[in-house]
Amino acid sequence: MNVFRHKKSLNQWVRQGKARGMRLGFVPTMGALHAGHLELAGRALKENDLVVCSIFVNPIQFNKAEDLEKYPRSLEADLRQLEDIGCDAVFCPDTREMYPEKDARVFDFGHLDKVMEGRYREGHFNGVAIVVDRLFRITEPDKAYFGEKDFQQLQIIRAMVRMEGHPVEIVGCPTVREPDGLALSSRNARLTKAQRQEAPGIYQALKKAREMFPATDTKEIIHAVTKQINASPELELEYFEIVKARDLLPATRAHANEKVMGCIAVHAGDVRLIDNLSLNS
Ligand code: PAJ
Repeated sequence: MNVFRHKKSLNQWVRQGKARGMRLGFVPTMGALHAGHLELAGRALKENDLVVCSIFVNPIQFNKAEDLEKYPRSLEADLRQLEDIGCDAVFCPDTREMYPEKDARVFDFGHLDKVMEGRYREGHFNGVAIVVDRLFRITEPDKAYFGEKDFQQLQIIRAMVRMEGHPVEIVGCPTVREPDGLALSSRNARLTKAQRQEAPGIYQALKKAREMFPATDTKEIIHAVTKQINASPELELEYFEIVKARDLLPATRAHANEKVMGCIAVHAGDVRLIDNLSLNS
């Protein structure tokens, strides 16, 4: 497996492959890899001739310095896992390599980055869009893989690709879960035993919302989910919203004929967990 720390050498390698007619799949990550990331990489390996994964903890998408510091880093183990599954190349630049100078661009995503995660994490999606735009310019992928676990991020990436005209197909991949339903996340390792025991309640609440939609009014569903989450002494709801998948605007039962998502963010102590579920597919 090729490990690149510099944009130039990776881009040269990419272009050599493309000149030989190879199709390139790309999986951007921030490392601390788990089975969810590996599922994306595995799918990329099935659908492309060459696969590049990136590992870069992107400072400009963190709005709290403390979160950036606390972000788990396990480069050695990550590289081993990617090698084991047959990944062709890994790009792990340092911050100076990614941002030799400040990138002050501001994307206009309309309301897409103002709702849900955007409301609670100011500037977060602009930072995500900038780094993914930069990574696409370096790796020039035919297909790029993102998890539906971060559903709003996936929609932001699709919007950024349209705005910038990147010739890449964005592939959304289903959320990988623990057997008890908890969505895999590098943050799960920070849960206490009691929090870990209660955390599957998040998925249970989403499933309850799915059972209720569209027969029940969405306001009532939101009320029921709020009550169910906050009944656990370990969990505290930050938001639960029922939105149209297409534009993330609030959905009502009148939208039952298009894809509707339940999106949730929950605090378990100082660990923030997000999840989502299609309520009508
Ligand atoms: P990171 O959190 O490392 O996630 C990398 C990719 O893995 C994202 O597309 C995310 O949605 C996906 N993923 C995470 N948990 C998953 C799960 N349980 N099931 C399926 N997919 C899962 O998301 C980022 O990094 C960054 O914002 C990034 C896009 C790399 C830009 O910095």
